[in-house]
Parts: sequence; C-alpha cells; structure tokens
Amino acid sequence: MSTNPTPRGFTSNIGAILAAAGGAVGLGNIWRFPYMLGQNGGGAFLLIYILFVLLIGIPLMMTEFIIGRRSQRNVVGAYKALSGGRKGWVVLGIFGIVAAFLIYAFYSVVAGWTLNYIVLSGSGRLAGLEPDAVANVFANFTQGSFLPLLCQLLFLALTGIVITMGVQKGIEKVGKILMPILFLLLILMCVRSLTLSGSQEGMKFLFKPDFSKLTGQSVLSALGQSFFSLSIGMGAMVTYGSYIRKEDRLFKTSIWIALCDLLVAVLAGVVIFPAVFAFGMDPASGPELVYVVLPNVFNNMPAGTLFSLIFFLLLGIAALTSTISLLEIIVAFAVEELHWKRTTASLVSTLLVFVVGAFCTLSFGPLQNAKLFDRTIFDLFDLITASYLMPIGALLMTIFLGWCYPKAEVKDELSNNGTLKARAFELYYIILRYIAPLALVIILISGIIG
Ligand code: TRP
Repeated sequence: MSTNPTPRGFTSNIGAILAAAGGAVGLGNIWRFPYMLGQNGGGAFLLIYILFVLLIGIPLMMTEFIIGRRSQRNVVGAYKALSGGRKGWVVLGIFGIVAAFLIYAFYSVVAGWTLNYIVLSGSGRLAGLEPDAVANVFANFTQGSFLPLLCQLLFLALTGIVITMGVQKGIEKVGKILMPILFLLLILMCVRSLTLSGSQEGMKFLFKPDFSKLTGQSVLSALGQSFFSLSIGMGAMVTYGSYIRKEDRLFKTSIWIALCDLLVAVLAGVVIFPAVFAFGMDPASGPELVYVVLPNVFNNMPAGTLFSLIFFLLLGIAALTSTISLLEIIVAFAVEELHWKRTTASLVSTLLVFVVGAFCTLSFGPLQNAKLFDRTIFDLFDLITASYLMPIGALLMTIFLGWCYPKAEVKDELSNNGTLKARAFELYYIILRYIAPLALVIILISGIIG
C-alpha cells in the first residue's frame, strides 16, 4: 500500500496553488495584458477586466477544478467519466486538447523570444542603442528563420523535460521554486519603475478609468484576456484539478490562484506604464510593447542593463510555468487515454507542436504575407483561441456542469463530501447555470457582430 494519499497528484495545497498559479501567470500577464490595456484606453479596461475575473473567472476556474477532481482524469477522460460516456461531451474534451495545441503553437514563439532577449540584455548588446536600432534588433530577429526557430525549439524542449519528470517532481517542484522567484523579481522591477521621475502619468493611465475609450470590442477583449490569463475554457484547470488533493478546498484554492494572477498583471502594468510614460514612449504600441519599447526605457534608466536582464528572466520564468501547463493537458490525455509512456507522450507532442508552431514563428518573417482575413498565421491563432475557442469551450462547460450533471454531485465535490459548509455554493451555482452562460453568449454574439 502506498503511504501517499494521492500518488497521482500534487502533494500539498500550497504546491497545487503555486503550480496552477504558475500555469495562469504567464506571457498573458506580462506581455499580453499590458499591451491590450495600452490599446484599450488603460484604467477602464482594467476595471472591466477585474470584474470579469471576479464574477466569471473564479467560478469558471472552480468549475474546471470540480470536473477534474471529481473525475480524477485528463480533460477527455473527465468528460467521458462524468457524462456516462455520451459521445457529444467527449468531443468537448477533444476540443480542449486541440485548443491547448493551438495555444501552445503560438505561445511558444513568444516564449522562445524571451531566451534571445535574456542573452541580448545579459550581454549588454541592447545597451546604449538608439530607438531605431532597438527596433531593428527586434525586426531582424523575429523576421529571421533560424534563430527564432531555435529559440522556440529550445523552449519547447525545456518544457518537455519538466513534463517528463512528472507531476510532483516536475510540475509541482518547478512551480514551488520559480513562483516565489518571479514575485521577488517583479517587486524589484516595480520599485525601480516607481522611483523614476515622471512615473505618475503612467499610474494615472493604468488606474484612472476613461470609459470613452471603451468599445464593444474592448469588452470582448477583456473577457478573452481574463480567460487567457486564468487559463480557463479549454481544460488546463481540469487537468490540474485532477491533481488537487481531495481534502483541499476548491473555492479557496481558486481564489488564491486568481488573485495571484490578477496581482501579477497589475504589477506588470505598474512596472511597464510608469516607465513608458516617464520616457515619453507610446503605451499603445501593441505586441511589441515589451520587446521594443521597454528596451529603450531600460536604456534610459540607471542600472538599465541589470533591470533589463531581470525583466526578461522574469518573462521567461512566467512563460515556462505556463508552457508546462499547456503541454501537460496534451500529455495527460496521451498517457491516460492512449496509454503512452510519459516520455513518449512528451516527445511526440513537443515535436508535433513544433511542426505547427514553426509556421507561427515564420509568420513574422518568410510567411508574413500569408494572411487570412488580413491577419498573419500567428495573429489568427491568437484571435481564434482567445476570442472564440476559449469562450465557446467555457460556455459548453457551464452547460455541462450546470445543466447536464446532478447538482447534488457538484455540491458534494465543492464541499468535500459535505465536510465543508460551502456557504457560497448557491451563489456559485447561480453563476454557473445562468450568469456565466448568459454573459458568454452575449459577449460571443457581440464579438461576432463586431
Ligand atoms: N494563462 C497563461 C498566460 O497568461 C497562458 C496559458 C497557459 C493558457 N495555459 C493555458 C491559456 C491554458 C489558456 C489555456 O500566459
């Protein structure tokens, strides 16, 4: 008999929180959130975003955890087990695997960039360059083929190695080590940014809402961003939920993870916008914000080389704990449903993702003219997953757990077999059944109409 109560999963609640927070905190918080906010008018976007996280994000994360922990399976196995094998719901699981695959393909491009930028900033090769030259470094790098592909492959390999080490020795351990380091580095960066003269403008931009800049499209973006950032809507948290111990409280665990995620996004804003404004740069410059605008900012500040190295390390760490969660969705499926060995599953999935992901990398260079609906391959992957697949996945998931699964069982899982009072259960259930699906439908429709 094993002495370990949950041999398949995380060994402690703090381990589960850090691992899942690692999956949530990522490029989404430090790269995507700031540029989305920059393009959507600042404070008003932040406010809507926070509302979505609290009102829909946390209940949906709980929903994924319930599905995962109840079934003790990967995302496909979970729907198979809980739906009594009804084929339709199994498709929702497969949908999750496909979405994870697509996200991983484009996400690993930007994750790979961090490696090059860690080397560039650490070796001082960005120091003292004129703004044009900094922009050229980025353009030459991303428009190339060999180096960005190599960086992507290295990042995929690093992720694959962690996943091969398993849930406890790989995912949980890496989360426990890297997440505290990430917070420390982030706080260092905040102090640096806030002590620059002229930083108040940036704080105003971040925290003072201007609702005139808000459009229907930005509300959809805020929702898409909250799903992307919390990793909900396609089964990452179902997989991690299956690793959470039966005695842990799902409600508390979800709140901690969501708050960590929100905190990192806001702190990333605090790092970036005061510095951007202090040096008169453009906050609405889009995906290039952290790779082109920030290096200029670093060049203008005392000890800039050191802080630029810290920043890109931070970005790389955040990306790694997230790519780990993306690969685990796929590998857990291959191991549990297809009965592959963990090593084989990691290797094969990594190679497959690289084949597809390479197109995303090349869409910045040789394939930049391959466009559909006026968007590059990379942009399409991003748009399709964050704005459509994740909200649709989330909608179907709420219909499954809210309408097609017995309420008593949901309550049983959330209250740890009735041992917890679960006072918030009725509120959660109303959000699950009515509010979340309604909000999702409205936002999906308004997004499609434009
Ligand atoms: N949440 C991560 C981020 O903010 C990205 C991510 C990791 C993700 N795993 C996911 C997104 C699963 C959706 C689903 O960077």
